[in-house]
Amino acid sequence: MKDANSPHAAHEHQRDSFGSSFGVLVALAGSAVGLGNLWRFPYLVGENGGAAFILIYLGFVLLVGVPIMMSEFIIGRRSQANARGAFKKLAPGSLWYVSGTLAVLCCLLILSFYSVVGGWGIEYLFKAFRFDFTRAGDSAGLSTLFSDFASSTWRPLVCHTVFLLLSGLIVILGVKNGIEKFSKVMMPVLFLIIIVIAIRSLTLPGAGAGIDYLFHPDWSKVTANTYLAALGQAFFSLSLGSGMVITYGSYVSKKENITAISAKTAAADTLFALIAGCAIMPAVFAFGISPGEGPGLVFITLPHIFSQLPLGGFIAILFFVALLLAALTSSISLLEVIAAFCIEEFKMKRFWAVMLTLFVLWVLGCLCSLSQGVLADWKIFGRNFFDLFDFLSANVLMLLGGLVAVVFVGWKLGRTVIHDELTNSGALKIPVWLLDTLLFLIRFLAPAAIAVIAIFQWV
Ligand code: TRP
Repeated sequence: MKDANSPHAAHEHQRDSFGSSFGVLVALAGSAVGLGNLWRFPYLVGENGGAAFILIYLGFVLLVGVPIMMSEFIIGRRSQANARGAFKKLAPGSLWYVSGTLAVLCCLLILSFYSVVGGWGIEYLFKAFRFDFTRAGDSAGLSTLFSDFASSTWRPLVCHTVFLLLSGLIVILGVKNGIEKFSKVMMPVLFLIIIVIAIRSLTLPGAGAGIDYLFHPDWSKVTANTYLAALGQAFFSLSLGSGMVITYGSYVSKKENITAISAKTAAADTLFALIAGCAIMPAVFAFGISPGEGPGLVFITLPHIFSQLPLGGFIAILFFVALLLAALTSSISLLEVIAAFCIEEFKMKRFWAVMLTLFVLWVLGCLCSLSQGVLADWKIFGRNFFDLFDFLSANVLMLLGGLVAVVFVGWKLGRTVIHDELTNSGALKIPVWLLDTLLFLIRFLAPAAIAVIAIFQWV
């Protein structure tokens, strides 16, 4: 542990931290709320039959997601170190830290394709400003507009580069002056925009069918795959299993209430996903479009709707501003995991750590972007780069990271440490039943759920 009065303190790296409770919440919620909510969640709901998927998803968030988030939080705050350093500090001389290294790799893979999609968001914001959607005409025209763009070589690369530079700029400014400040302003803006769009969508004639779809479960559509998709989405949307909560948690003061922040973050993320659902589904139904359009939903179906909607041009701009903000507050969290790792493990300066990370990401991202076009035939294990990175992170590394986090906290650190962290060494009260329930979820239910899902998808 560092001692501020020691003669070495001046030479040691001074750790950044969050400045306020609200700052911690918006930063965590900012990481959680992202393309996962605006792009992935609506199309998964559409493909998996609506309300039943949402209910299963809610169950996973509460019973598996929150316990994993709290476990990662405990690891981060107790160690006050980056994703790898955390395990080294808490379990010196053991191999747990390998999981931290994998978490950093996971963030690298996610951000490679995430920044490509973020770049698409930039392009679509421009298109919205130029009213391109109205000009492209029907959904066939919009589908061509999207595939022509995504499969072209240069434009997506330029957008991807701009997106990375924007994220880099914020992270270079640091945790308190960059990430926290940006999230404090942008998260309220983001919620406001999505609420405005939801109101517009809900007041369309014929919106009722969309609401029905979102809130009346049709259990006949549920298969084993629905559960897989729901748990995968809970991991992705809450940014779990990838060292993010460990890293952000390490910047949180010992006075904050881990249980409350975790619950609020999960609630904000879920609420946002539901409002996004209310913004998208009623419009989809009002225009008689099938909800199961897959990943093209946001870039093809929605522009189609915008082109016909009264005030659609304006709503399109608002929507893509929201998409871009949501993507940025998440990408900075992914970038911070890697930057913190470079800063602390290799004693790099923040500026150079971010620059190096950006460069590696840029190269990997170029591969992902080009895999939609000229490199479409370059396949590893039958997948192009984009799909491979998505698969490796979401289906392998994140699950593994989440599993290690709960097992480490539940079995290695144990009840006393958990109690100590959740009560801030006795300063807060936590009812015994809640502690027991959490302990059960962390030790048994979460690991079992992850194991079952992993086995199901690999065999
Ligand atoms: N949760 C974000 C979203 O919903 C994506 C994200 C940010 C993420 N940080 C992460 C995903 C870390 C996994 C791991 O879009």
